[in-house]
Amino acid sequence: MRGFLTDPTAPAGLRLTGALPEPEPADGEFLMAVHAYALNRDELNLIRRRPDGWRPGQDVAGTVLRAAAAGTGPAAGTRVLARLEELGWAERAAVPVHSAAVLEDAVTFAQAATLPIAGITALRALRQGGPLLGADVLVTGATGGVGQFAVQLAAAAGARVTAHVSRPERAGAALALGARHTVTTLAEAAPHGPYQLVLDGIGGPVLTDAVRLLAPGATAVLYGNVAGPSQLSIGDFYAQGWNARLVGLISADPTPGATGGEAGPGMAADLATLVRLVADGRLTPHTTLTADWTRTPDALTALARRDIRGKAVLTLPPAATDPALDPALDRRL
Ligand SMILES: NC(=O)c1ccc[n+]([C@@H]2O[C@H](COP(=O)([O-])OP(=O)(O)OC[C@H]3O[C@@H](n4cnc5c(N)ncnc54)[C@H](OP(=O)(O)O)[C@@H]3O)[C@@H](O)[C@H]2O)c1
Repeated sequence: MRGFLTDPTAPAGLRLTGALPEPEPADGEFLMAVHAYALNRDELNLIRRRPDGWRPGQDVAGTVLRAAAAGTGPAAGTRVLARLEELGWAERAAVPVHSAAVLEDAVTFAQAATLPIAGITALRALRQGGPLLGADVLVTGATGGVGQFAVQLAAAAGARVTAHVSRPERAGAALALGARHTVTTLAEAAPHGPYQLVLDGIGGPVLTDAVRLLAPGATAVLYGNVAGPSQLSIGDFYAQGWNARLVGLISADPTPGATGGEAGPGMAADLATLVRLVADGRLTPHTTLTADWTRTPDALTALARRDIRGKAVLTLPPAATDPALDPALDRRL
């Protein structure tokens, strides 16, 4: 079977090989033909940290080749998406039933592949804020992989969203996602607050500034720190966010109740929710790079250079018949 593994001597630390063993699904896993996968920023770190033949690949979409032996999950031939821990950048993968959902007809493999990590993180982070109708919500890194979904989902839930973007040329994209205001510094965000909910994947001084914009009793959710660690003190909460709380969100847990309290849905249910929102036209994955999967190292290099806005998607040959995959999109590499 063909697929990628880490190799420190190869471009972007990744080598395509045809010598991989076929997946051997456990009882609760089905065998998937992978048609598309998306990249995540953290995979750059994982590839660097595991230069030893490790096989990356977390966000995948494709078709069930063989149903799980346990008798649960989708039947052979079903179109699905899934969130894996690894091994997804290959022609076939073993997929735990609890981390997969069925695709609606209107959702393409390329769209679906963008959803697992970024969409789940946005959904679960927003859930931390409770009802959002009429709430003021601040989303940092608003045109990034997670940020683009967070802005759209918050706006769909009735929030007034202030989108923090890295540079002025990103502002138009953030408004198109449904943001009410866009800012490039958090000082500019102050007049639109205080905020009942802040979603931050940047960390560093951005998180400190964001905490100072929280309303009393509000919630800040930290899910990433692309700008490094933050310094926080109780003084930052005295600014106005008395008794506000800071949540460190790890979105990966597949079990029901892992996030969002005891009633929080599991991974499969959350993936199904995201698929429905895309099918209904209420959520649109934005992908600035779609390319053949053999160009994964080039796509990783573009991601590392911050050339990607939204998501980067790689497609395997069977998905080339998908009418939504316009070859003209393969333009950035
Ligand atoms: N906890 C979890 O479960 C979880 C899940 C998913 C992701 N994460 C983490 O969350 C972070 C974001 O992930 P992502 O996939 O959304 O990444 P991404 O697609 O690269 O988006 C990052 C966003 O932040 C902006 N940005 C980057 N550095 C910045 C800086 N120094 N100052 C201001 N803005 C900056 C980027 O702007 P440009 O457009 O200019 O690049 C982009 O909009 C990463 O650290 C990732 O590892 C955690």
